[in-house]
Amino acid sequence: MKTLTLTKPDDWHVHVRNGALLRTVIAHTAKQFARAIIMPNLKPPVTTVAQALAYREEILSAVPAETSFEPLMTLYMTASTSVEEVKSAADSPYIHAFKLYPAGATTNSDAGVSDVKQIYRQLETMEKFDIPLLIHGEVVDERCDIFDREKQFVSTHLEAITRDFPGLRVVLEHVTTAEAVYFVESAGPNVAATITPQHLLFNRNAILAGGIRPHFYCLPILKREEHRLALVRAATGGSQKFFLCTDSAPHLTALKENACGCAGCYSAHAALELYAKVFEENGALDKLENFASFNGPDFYRLPRNSEVVTLIKSPWNIPDFYANEDVRITPLLAGETLSWKLQ
Ligand code: DOR
Ligand code: ZN
Repeated sequence: MKTLTLTKPDDWHVHVRNGALLRTVIAHTAKQFARAIIMPNLKPPVTTVAQALAYREEILSAVPAETSFEPLMTLYMTASTSVEEVKSAADSPYIHAFKLYPAGATTNSDAGVSDVKQIYRQLETMEKFDIPLLIHGEVVDERCDIFDREKQFVSTHLEAITRDFPGLRVVLEHVTTAEAVYFVESAGPNVAATITPQHLLFNRNAILAGGIRPHFYCLPILKREEHRLALVRAATGGSQKFFLCTDSAPHLTALKENACGCAGCYSAHAALELYAKVFEENGALDKLENFASFNGPDFYRLPRNSEVVTLIKSPWNIPDFYANEDVRITPLLAGETLSWKLQ
């Protein structure tokens, strides 16, 4: 049987939510990954070290007993984040980054930043104390076409942030365009990017193939095929600047299959299998370990994991849904078959 053994990967961006939704999804992430960067866009957002430590305890108490998993916490940046909070985050062994959500860009981003200038003092402190900035890179401007919002963010705000804070470590998260790939490739070693499985596997046609398919709707939205190909080249090309982020973002099925459906693809159930599919289809399985297991910890200056995981070539069907307590979620590629299976 064909097998693929890798150093256990980490997920450099995931939404595990809280309460019953957390208890439904965390086992998937903890099985697939040794560690994960936890997104802070809860309601209310995780803006302080104290809140992040409490959230970390909630996550750890939901992880199945036999699994070892380390949540890497992040803080949600706001215009009123104090310089003292930035320093205590940088000092904490549990906090690994700040997340910048442009206000209004995506799920629970209302408390985010409406003008990057408002957080220049915080960014200066982050640069000095060397704590990374994770960016949801889309402009919030209803006159800007939804398919151009990332490109526009890169050429205006990202350009300015990296110019004004040349020593700041920055991750442009879940990149979706050729322009973003090019910017990151051309920037210094302190600027990196992450890539989701859905943006590597699908282009924007998937959202509208024979009808509206809400489980392919996420933000930034899927783009044209030429952009997908640029992402595949970045992920499989061996550059250390690109690494894995599922951006697994569970929403209740009823809130996805809705007249105004929520943005987010749930992919934690099959994350490595989805990446193995795209790397295999592009003749690059030998590059998967760098992308999934090495580039991320190297950028975050954390040790690489020592455990391994094995994928086997053994077709399996993705369930139509996962249900627990009062939660029901629909996974990415529900009802479809994948050829790789995590053992
Ligand atoms: O599709 C998305 N879902 N994009 C985001 O930026 C946020 C996420 C969520 O929290 O649901
Ligand atoms: Zn996300």
